[in-house]
Amino acid sequence: MAADYIVKDIALAGFGRKELTIAETEMPGLMSSREEFGASQPLKGARIVGSLHMTIQTGVLIETLVALGADVRWASCNIFSTQDHAAAAIAEAGVPVFAIKGQSLEEHWDYLDRSFQFPEGANMILDDGGDATLYVLLGARAEAGEEIIPVPQSEEEEVIKKQIAKRMAASPGWFTKTKAAIKGVSEETTTGVHRLYDLHKKGQLPFPAINVNDSVTKSKFDNKYGCKESLVDGIRRATDTMMAGKVAVVCGYGDVGKGSAASLRGAGARVKVTEVDPICALQAAMDGFEVTLLEDEVASADIFITTTGNRDVIRIEHLREMKDMAIVGNIGHFDNEIQVAALRNHKWTNIKEQVDMIEMPSGNRIILLSEGRLLNLGNATGHPSFVMSASFTNQVLAQIELWTKGENYAPGVYILPKELDEKVARLHLKKIGVKLTELRQDQAEYIGVTVAGPFKPEHYRY
Ligand code: NAI
Repeated sequence: MAADYIVKDIALAGFGRKELTIAETEMPGLMSSREEFGASQPLKGARIVGSLHMTIQTGVLIETLVALGADVRWASCNIFSTQDHAAAAIAEAGVPVFAIKGQSLEEHWDYLDRSFQFPEGANMILDDGGDATLYVLLGARAEAGEEIIPVPQSEEEEVIKKQIAKRMAASPGWFTKTKAAIKGVSEETTTGVHRLYDLHKKGQLPFPAINVNDSVTKSKFDNKYGCKESLVDGIRRATDTMMAGKVAVVCGYGDVGKGSAASLRGAGARVKVTEVDPICALQAAMDGFEVTLLEDEVASADIFITTTGNRDVIRIEHLREMKDMAIVGNIGHFDNEIQVAALRNHKWTNIKEQVDMIEMPSGNRIILLSEGRLLNLGNATGHPSFVMSASFTNQVLAQIELWTKGENYAPGVYILPKELDEKVARLHLKKIGVKLTELRQDQAEYIGVTVAGPFKPEHYRY
């Protein structure tokens, strides 16, 4: 029988295993979940489809889900983000993985389809950006003869439609059956969460979803401190450019923008920010960044980074005006923040994997990172293990909640309770030597909380 995985080179498994072992020492939340829940096997019977960057950190997540009793099949949620040694190590351990760094878009959707193909069918989704959820829901619409809703990454629309048609021809009724079998989805990122709330608003979300992104220990850590480390890492590995003294423009000052601006400032760049939201614009200004318009900087800045989760932020008219050898990249989830499609008819010179030099009509060249896909995972290895441990511990708790108590939830989008958020943070203190002060009983009463927490009301924003 053919091996039930697709990886670049299974011989990379040994290297992957060594790095997994190191990552485990930096992921205390996941490792303590194994200790706490390993014996009781709360995920027994769960058949989880994972669609999330197949990195070393994700490898530790996968092995935690398996340690808790789950059956798991995995695809990456981005064509450039896979770490091939991580995929090999996980495949060798017996988990079906379908992910290769640099896979085509056709392969991306084919691999996602394969990750659903449990002999007894999938019953849970762990998503990052919403592609796995989208696939099942679009397919079920197609089977019902309804029009397929437009997808946000429109270049991919045709590819998705083809993949859906292929599955419909191979297994009639498969999407409808799968949609009915899914007990719930846990979603990793801001963009995926937007999709879920939108689906729910339209009455098209058939199962409960846990918004992992908006756990405080996810978005206020991974999106911010993670990007603070991984943005500049990506730019350096791609270009080796001197960052100090350069002018960098960060579009968007949400959680990812805050981390990205801090990353560039930390490297000595002179950072400017663009925003549409007056609150975030004011935050950026008071953090000491010049807040300005892209149009005012486009001809003079050296580095441009989009962090908005929005479409068409750097457009062709901006790209045309940039100075020679400007560096352009995106760290938001999808590749629609920069109008890369409009550059396709220009002259591209590939410098190395995920780095292209594009000649503009003026003769100026721009350096485009990861073809506009998220550059911290395309050009580097994403966030460090420690911060991903916090994100992924929320994922594990969300999967346990949905699998063991899913019937208590009506279709909708939920956030994990604050007790669990605080628990995730607590699990990460010892590793970095944090000493936590304990409230006295009278102090707790005075501020209206209990000694054991939660320490903040729901409306507190951190
Ligand atoms: P957010 O909603 O906190 O921040 C986005 C910001 O962009 C907002 O403040 C918004 O006002 C601003 N914005 C929107 N349109 C704009 C425009 N045209 N010009 C300037 N600013 C604009 O979202 P968050 O959490 O920062 O996530 C941003 C993106 O990054 C999402 O796609 C998310 O999925 C992704 N993400 C990527 C990660 C990575 O490792 N690469 C990690 C976490 C999230």
